[in-house]
Amino acid sequence: MLANSLNLAAVIAHRGASAYAPENTLAAMRKAQQIGAKWVEFDVMLAGEGEVVVIHDFTLNRTTNGRGRVIDTPYNKIAHLDAGSWFAPEFRNERIPTLVQLLTCLQELDLHINMEIKPTPGQELTTTRKALEILYQHWPCEKSPPLISSGSLACLREARRLHAKCLLGVIADHWSSDWQAISQELMCISWHFNHKILNSARVAEVQAAGKLVLAYTVNEVERALELFRWGVVSVFTNYPDVILKALQQQKTGDA
Ligand code: G3P
Ligand code: MG
Repeated sequence: MLANSLNLAAVIAHRGASAYAPENTLAAMRKAQQIGAKWVEFDVMLAGEGEVVVIHDFTLNRTTNGRGRVIDTPYNKIAHLDAGSWFAPEFRNERIPTLVQLLTCLQELDLHINMEIKPTPGQELTTTRKALEILYQHWPCEKSPPLISSGSLACLREARRLHAKCLLGVIADHWSSDWQAISQELMCISWHFNHKILNSARVAEVQAAGKLVLAYTVNEVERALELFRWGVVSVFTNYPDVILKALQQQKTGDA
């Protein structure tokens, strides 16, 4: 599939609208849609007993009232945890969604998705297999092609092995001179860089190789506009409304 048929938006809500609602919850996805986002990013991981859940950290400690590693906790325990109060009291009824629950909600909201596979170390292959099995069963991949990303090359290789045509993005926190070899091996369509390691030359270099450049996590308007000027196609942001407004203002000003 050609990259431009992905219809990628300039603004991707990072973990949902995570500045306004607890990250990676259904509330964060609803909020993202309410404030104008068309695309959302979320993180998936294996819980105990093989359930795929939507959470960023390897432990439950920061974003729930539970303790311990996600991989060691069976879903029937995770299902009862409060995943909202840490953010604000009115979100106390939020739960860690399963991937199935999340995809069902996102379909209702008519959003497009970037699923980041975030494996507990050692669980790369199982996480990828289970997450993709669910994705292909529960998401209208033809109508809304999902962008599948990971910082784990093992996950991306497994995704490519399982689905020859899936759209892959490589997440990179550090600049690596290997990016061309990796691009070729994985046949990825995009690179998702930490914006702090980007400059105009790097963006141009990756773009010239025919890859889309995305940048995370960009919460400052001026920085977002600079990245767009360099050729970054999308930014992951906790404040989708703020970046969208700035883009709209720029468009009006240019007209
Ligand atoms: O996918 C972009 C971004 O989400 C990667 O970093 O740690 O927020 O998942 P992180
Ligand atoms: Mg992520």
